Parts: sequence; C-alpha cells; structure tokens
Amino acid sequence: MNFRTIIEPFRIKSVESVKFTRREEREAALQDAGFNVFRLRAEDVLIDLLTDSGTGAMSAAQWGALMQGDESYAGSRSFYRFESVVRDLTGFTHVIPTHQGRAAERILFHSVLKPGQVIPNNNHFDTTRANIEVEQCEARDLVIAEGRVPALVHPFKGNVDLAALEKTLREDGDRVPLVMVTVTNNSGGGQPVSLENIRGVRALCDRYRKPLFLDACRFAENAYFIKIREAGQEDRTPKAIAQEMFSLADGCTMSAKKDGLANIGGFLAMNDDRLAETARNLLILTEGFPTYGGLAGYDLEAIARGLEEVVEEPYLRYRIRSTEYLGDKLTAAGVPTIRPSGGHAIYLDARALLPQIPPLQYPGIALTNALYVEAGIRGVEIGTVMFGLRPDGSETPGAMDLVRLAIPRRVYTQSHIDYVAEGAIEVARLKESLRGYRIVSAPTVLRHFTARFEQL
Ligand code: F0G
Repeated sequence: MNFRTIIEPFRIKSVESVKFTRREEREAALQDAGFNVFRLRAEDVLIDLLTDSGTGAMSAAQWGALMQGDESYAGSRSFYRFESVVRDLTGFTHVIPTHQGRAAERILFHSVLKPGQVIPNNNHFDTTRANIEVEQCEARDLVIAEGRVPALVHPFKGNVDLAALEKTLREDGDRVPLVMVTVTNNSGGGQPVSLENIRGVRALCDRYRKPLFLDACRFAENAYFIKIREAGQEDRTPKAIAQEMFSLADGCTMSAKKDGLANIGGFLAMNDDRLAETARNLLILTEGFPTYGGLAGYDLEAIARGLEEVVEEPYLRYRIRSTEYLGDKLTAAGVPTIRPSGGHAIYLDARALLPQIPPLQYPGIALTNALYVEAGIRGVEIGTVMFGLRPDGSETPGAMDLVRLAIPRRVYTQSHIDYVAEGAIEVARLKESLRGYRIVSAPTVLRHFTARFEQL
C-alpha cells in the first residue's frame, strides 16, 4: 500500500490551550512592546512561530526519562548516558555539555580566537556572529551565490562556496583558526548542505591544515534532505548520513533545543585533547562541572532520548513535509518566500513583497508586525534589524529582509498550519497599506531582541 497522506507520526497525550485575542488587544499589546514581537507576552500570541528553539513537544519517553535523571554534581549516570549517545552519533572523543548552543559557541571561540582572526562559515547565525565579533574577529559568510537569491530553487542552497573558501584560506589562512559549516543553514533559509559539499570543505581544511567544526543545531533535518535530494543517498538511514556528516568534521557546536528535541541544552564536542582541556576549564568558570555543564541531570536524559528520536525516519519525513506544506500553500498564493522550503521554517521575502519600504525602514519588521496584528501569528525578522548593524556602529541593509515562520517540533497540527497560511496570504493582500519603522532605542549588540520601534 502506498498512501499519499503523510501523517503526524504521534498521537497527542497532553494539550495546552491557546488564547484568542481581538485585533484591538493585539494592537495595544504590540504598541506596549515597542513594536518588537520579542517583547510581547507569549500568552498574547495565538500561533507562536518566533522560533523552533526549545519550543518543541517532548515525547512520553522523554518525560519518562526525566525521572531517571541523576542529579549528582560529578560523574552523574545521566552524563554518561548523554555522552554515549552523542559519541555514537558524532564519533567525537570529547563531549562537553552546555546550557545551550551559544554557550558552546562562546567557549569554543573564546578558546581559539585572537583579535583580528577570521571564521569562515556558510552563514553565521546571529549568536555565532556575535560571539566571534565580541572577540574582535570577523565572521565571514561564504554561502554559494544561489543561497543569496530567495526565489532561486537549488537542492543545497546552504552549500559553502568552495572557491571563496579556498581564496580565504589562501589569502587569510594565517588568520583562520578553524572553519565552520552550519547545517542546516538557518540564516540562509534553513537550507541544507550536501555531503559532497562538506567533503569539499573537508578537503580544503586538510590542504590548509584547519580544523572543521559543524554548527550542528539541525543536523537531522540536514541529513534527511541529503537522503531525499543527494544522488546515491536514498537507501541510507538519516542516522548513518548524520554520522558521516560528523565524521568529516573535527568537532561541533550544538543547540539541543533544535534537533535535540529538548527544551534546553546543548554541547560542544571535539577530538582535540588540548582544546577540550581549555574548553572544560572555561566551562567550569561559567557553566558548571564538565559532567553537567549548566544542565540538570534530567535535561541530559531528555536530550539523550531526543537525539535518538530525531533521526527516526517517520519523524523526519513528517517534519520536512509539514514545513514544505506551508511553503507550497504560500507559493501557490503568490506570496514570495525563500524557495525551496527550509527544514525548520518558511521565510517570507519581505523585501520582495514590500518594495515601497526601503531596507533601512525595516520591511521585515513591518511584515512581522502585520502578521501579529491581523492574525495573532508571531514570526521573526531576519534581515536588516538582525544583521544590519556593523561593529563600528554604522547601519547597512542586511543581505535579505526575511520574516521567518519557524515551526516548533511536534507542536502544531495541520489545521494550525492551514490557519497560518490563510493569515499570511491575507496580510500579503494588505501589502500596499503597510508602512516602515524607525528604531527609537536599541543596544549595540544583538539589537533585534530588545530594540523599540516607531511606525513611520
Ligand atoms: N546556531 C544556529 C544555526 C542557531 O539557529 C542557533 C539558535 C544557535 C546556533 C544558538 O543556539 O539558541 O541554543 O543558544 N537559533 C535559535 C533560532 C535561537 O531561533 O533560530 P542557542
């Protein structure tokens, strides 16, 4: 039998009510929030697509695993279980738990970087970039040209431009302590990186003697894209593909809030003994002892179980298809998005939809705010507000002005997604009435989280 309907590969045991609000209530809430959806109270949001990070639903097996948590300060049984799952998946010798991905980034970059150095990547995510810039170093984005054109369809738009990487290594190699690849490429639209491309990066790293680190937050989604899109990979399991991805690298940073299927947690893993020692010493300073790294024993249990569930094929088939389902609906209605659909999110192309709003008047904020006011949906701007502030304080348009609708894992059903599509299509119809914004106040680092805006 070959049924066409791809169903949620779970049934629901526990539910959480969502609150319906009126349009005037949402307008008032947004005004109080300085027109920044990060400042809203979550209960005033109907469908929350701000992020797929830490917002997933844990399985009954994960909730059960919480009770197995060993809360010993040192040498906890839960640590050894966590370590063995991470080692089995990644093959890395040293597994260092952290409270989330950015802690792993901070520890890695603070351990390896000296001012003036350069980290190449396909695209750095905001916290990765910030953790490099805070060390007075450069985060250099080297995604392939196709990855910068939202409407262009390419199976692996997250791939690294190997010629550009080679140029960086040739010209600035003495300033490059390591190379990173983000799988999937969040800032570039949740787009995957092919195995062939990771092998190409590996070969360049070998030639120039540089370690390669994966930003592995969404490694399982990337592995599934490889399975369905890369020639010769279709008969392999997602886990086997993921293991090969990790085998090509020397280490990784990981936020377990994404493909760890957990609400909190992360890790830093690597093979280099000396680097691991430096990292563990930093970990003790700010996160905790190396067998818990800022997490409870029960968190380590939930992550260990989550890392096993996330590579199951029925889960990944549903995950990738349900995101694509939203993308297909919007495309059919003529709403511009990054094509093809990403793994964890659909990215609306605000710059294309709202040509009357110049990038420095933040079309992504205009669209995000309209989605909230009209439909109670919370997305997030990934554009000029997030990436447009240079370290010297000047402002420049981001590479793109996108609104990301990130889908929490195992949380929303198909009818929720139908509603999101209807809401986004309705807002796209109102495009001519939308206006830009200006920033009233903002910090100098990661300004998008707390900035206040005023409508123009
Ligand atoms: N790297 C990537 C590619 C990410 O997407 C994130 C987080 C991090 C690193 C940092 O991990 O949040 O656990 O500290 N992305 C979330 C998002 C916040 O909404 O995309 P973290």
